[in-house]
Amino acid sequence: MSKHSPASSTGPKRVRAHHLRAMKERGEKIVALTAYDAVTSALLDAAGVDLLLVGDSIGNTMHGHDTTLPVTVEDMIPAARGVARAADRAFVVVDLPFGSYESGPEQALATAVRFMKETGAHGVKLEGGERVVEQVRAISQAGIPVVGHLGYTPQSEHALGGPRVQGRDDAEQLLADARAIADAGAIAVVLEMVPVPLAQRVTEALAVPTIGIGAGPGCDGQILVWTDMAGMGDWAPRFVKQYARLGEALREAAQTYAGEVRDGSFPAAEHGFDK
Ligand code: KIV
Repeated sequence: MSKHSPASSTGPKRVRAHHLRAMKERGEKIVALTAYDAVTSALLDAAGVDLLLVGDSIGNTMHGHDTTLPVTVEDMIPAARGVARAADRAFVVVDLPFGSYESGPEQALATAVRFMKETGAHGVKLEGGERVVEQVRAISQAGIPVVGHLGYTPQSEHALGGPRVQGRDDAEQLLADARAIADAGAIAVVLEMVPVPLAQRVTEALAVPTIGIGAGPGCDGQILVWTDMAGMGDWAPRFVKQYARLGEALREAAQTYAGEVRDGSFPAAEHGFDK
């Protein structure tokens, strides 16, 4: 295990919001992945991942939707409970799903409080810049760590015209959005599909860490959707590096199992009970 691994004896027992900021100050990269259940959470936590995001990408990855828009608070709660229960060390953040915070700070705070009370997570994330500043402020002032999300924001996919790089023509607005939510109390900002130089500029402008996804190496940390990172499917976005081919391995295991059940070689004697 590397001495920089958060799971090392020199790292904190539980990663907390102030550790993320300290990591930025030390120039130590923050490692983040999504997780949607206890099994995966335990594995990723043991691997030393600093931050686990119960992303509303659960809609695409686990529930078979084309977008994150149908995901509800009721979908997120059991997923977040499983992830939070199984993570001994990672900082667990839950996405506020579409429709659960846009109406205003009161709605946002009510959803965030519900997540904190009912799931055991350590913080929440929401999408947007200046338009959600009051939501960020209300959640933060209630003592709940809140992470922002700028650039390509999947909950606005129909307004943005699908997954496209953001900030090419309006870099100053993205920078203003980042400053606004950081000033309102965001503890970190996810930058998704943002040009590398702009992500670097935002990272330099903020005291809080940026966590990039398709935003280049200049961010203070990186996040990927775990199923993309581990190669669960045949396709992943261009900005993803696949570190394994778990989908293929699972298919092969299931095929071997099916063959052995059909030809009678499973279960063998050692898988049964004499009495
Ligand atoms: O829901 C999600 O998985 C996310 C990441 C892409 C950052 O918001």
